[in-house]
Amino acid sequence: MSFTVAIDGPAASGKGTISRALAAHFGMLHLDTGLLYRAVGARVEAGEAPEAAARSLTQADLAREDLRSQAAASAASRVAAIPEVRAALLDFQRAFARAPEGAVLDGRDICTVICPGAEVKLYVTASPEVRADRRHAELVARGVDVTREEVLEDVLARDARDMGRADAPLVAAPDALVLDTSEMGIDEAVAAAIAEVVRVRGG
Ligand code: C5P
Repeated sequence: MSFTVAIDGPAASGKGTISRALAAHFGMLHLDTGLLYRAVGARVEAGEAPEAAARSLTQADLAREDLRSQAAASAASRVAAIPEVRAALLDFQRAFARAPEGAVLDGRDICTVICPGAEVKLYVTASPEVRADRRHAELVARGVDVTREEVLEDVLARDARDMGRADAPLVAAPDALVLDTSEMGIDEAVAAAIAEVVRVRGG
């Protein structure tokens, strides 16, 4: 019997950290679906057609070192607005969600489009300022030379693109539990997510 935890939310909301912690806690598989779009974005930047890139992604594409950059994030959110790219990535994500050990998927449209029947649905969010502060600290720790204002601009631009696109816009599913992490420590947010899985699945 598969068990799917679907998690959506904007950039730097904490959903990646929560997803990894949930998967580790319950022994489930985890898929960061943003990586799929980042990998397609990187290949399109290198000159490939978007749909062809999305249809031929390999493990090596997903393991690329450069997918965590701001440039890769912007390229991802541009290709993510192309319906043919989203359609090409759909089956892989749905198959992953049915892993027998259970699966946690995080992204923008997991609760609404990819896994509307998921047993647990979470929408993780935080104010743009808090998210920009977090992302800025993360980038500075990695040695990236960027100002907090530049990061905030990038967060707002990506929000606008992800929430404003016609196909699968980022929105909280009506039946998702909303976790606003603006004033929550990460431990508290993880504990709340674990409690929700336990509530639905049992211990
Ligand atoms: O989550 P991450 O920041 O890695 O995602 C990069 C971009 O990929 C997002 O800004 C969004 O445009 C796109 N994305 C998406 N649907 C998903 C996951 C990511 O459109 N399920």
